[in-house]
Amino acid sequence: MQLLEGLLNRVSASKLEAPGPNEQQLEAIMQAALRAPDHGNLKPWRSVMVSGEGRHQLGELFKQAQLQRNPQSDAQTLEKCSKMPTRAPNVLVLIASPKEHPKVPASEQIQSAAAAGHAMLLAAFAQSIGAVWRTGWVVSHGLIRNAFNLQEQEQIIAMIYMGTPSIPLKPVPKISSQEFIKQWH
Ligand SMILES: Cc1cc2nc3c(=O)[nH]c(=O)nc-3n(C[C@H](O)[C@H](O)[C@H](O)COP(=O)(O)O)c2cc1C
Repeated sequence: MQLLEGLLNRVSASKLEAPGPNEQQLEAIMQAALRAPDHGNLKPWRSVMVSGEGRHQLGELFKQAQLQRNPQSDAQTLEKCSKMPTRAPNVLVLIASPKEHPKVPASEQIQSAAAAGHAMLLAAFAQSIGAVWRTGWVVSHGLIRNAFNLQEQEQIIAMIYMGTPSIPLKPVPKISSQEFIKQWH
């Protein structure tokens, strides 16, 4: 797939099934992320793959976290939480990990980590792997932060669900660029 074709046509795939990316495909996804623009070449992110049984363990943590938020949560809500990570064969947890740097503020490093996330989505799409970037309240909950050993300056910026799309991809919305660019002066 040509680069521009992929850039213009990528859509998220939220209904995903096995198989997820194989080793080579995942390597391409990681290498694409490592080509993201990066002030100071700090690679200010890390990622953790959750797959197989790990998804059930993560789902259990989501459930526990929900119970901490609201001890009166009903069974349906708890069940939904516990099943969230099983919506795809692979969930790549992307963690922005800003470093101390005299010239590159943490905010720029988080932008760079987000650019890496976008590159991951594009590299998945280029290989016909379905992917969707998700976050939600879980990413900032203490139980989930602990599960991925987050340091104080770190934050989970994405849980990238990956797999094989189980329904056709949605069409690309047509949006005029006119409102998004103006000439200066
Ligand atoms: C930082 C960030 C967090 C997001 N979190 C969620 C989320 O928790 N749940 C969700 O359904 N979509 C979330 N999205 C949006 C989807 O990933 C997706 O971009 C959106 O549904 C539009 O679909 P498209 O990518 O095909 O245009 C998030 C996107 C970003 C950039």
